[in-house]
Amino acid sequence: MVQKISPRKIIGTLAIACLLAQLATLSTSCKHQPLFDDDGLGPIDSTDTIDIIDTIPTGTPCDPDKVYFESQVLPILISNCAMSGCHNAASHQDGVVLDSYAKVMQTGKVKPFKPNDSDLYEVITETDLDDRMPPPPNAALSQDQIQVIRKWIEQGALDLKCDPNAGGCDTTNVSFSQTLSPVINTFCKGCHSGTNPSAGIGLDTYNGVKTVALNGKLYGAIAWSTGFQKMPQGGNKLDACTISQFKSWIDAGAPGN
Ligand code: HEC
Repeated sequence: MVQKISPRKIIGTLAIACLLAQLATLSTSCKHQPLFDDDGLGPIDSTDTIDIIDTIPTGTPCDPDKVYFESQVLPILISNCAMSGCHNAASHQDGVVLDSYAKVMQTGKVKPFKPNDSDLYEVITETDLDDRMPPPPNAALSQDQIQVIRKWIEQGALDLKCDPNAGGCDTTNVSFSQTLSPVINTFCKGCHSGTNPSAGIGLDTYNGVKTVALNGKLYGAIAWSTGFQKMPQGGNKLDACTISQFKSWIDAGAPGN
């Protein structure tokens, strides 16, 4: 006798089989697979653990064509505008506070996509010295800094986030001129340059940086170690990779490389 199987039954059976197969693959792909032979007993096996996978940075890598507010725009404003007596929360000259995204957008009257209609951009490019920010005797922002702010507004004045450590952190042979000097220009120079630098510490020359590198103050300040002033003052802590790169360079004797 030929047993008739209804098409519905076949579909139902297939569906269950699929589901089971999916569950099976799902459970294996979710299982932590050993990646390293960390018990040193030869081929990777179940006694090797993979906790290491949790330490691999998972954040979005930074796109060099995009401007990131927290890491590129805010430090320029903190260092050149949001210092005490000017535009930090306590001083708020003319009601302008430039120490956070929300305040910059609101009190700097930033119009996304329109730098020329944004007060923040107008004052830093003002040619009339009576109106220019930062006001003399402070130096004007550099062309590079002005371009960063222009590009940020042109891209919509967003508060994008990225993980500077996503590509890993290279702390070998750290170059002062290529790696550290640009960080200092963005995060520190506004306060630590010119004839009257904050704390008498000028960071606008290699020798100035070298002095605080070798007397321990530079690392203490950026690592926010106990007993040191936290730098950049009023700003966020530098990212962990950058701090490690400073440390590695200081440990190497702070070379002028
Ligand atoms: C908004 C201004 C401002 C910015 C930005 C800033 N500093 Fe400072 N810095 C100061 C002031 C003011 C002091 C003195 C603080 C005090 O003694 O109360 C100081 C002190 C220091 C000291 C001495 C710390 C100590 O405990 O002896 C070092 C080193 C230093 N800054 C390095 C840096 C570095 C590196 C950066 C950038 C990553 C930076 N600063 C950014 C204003 C600033």
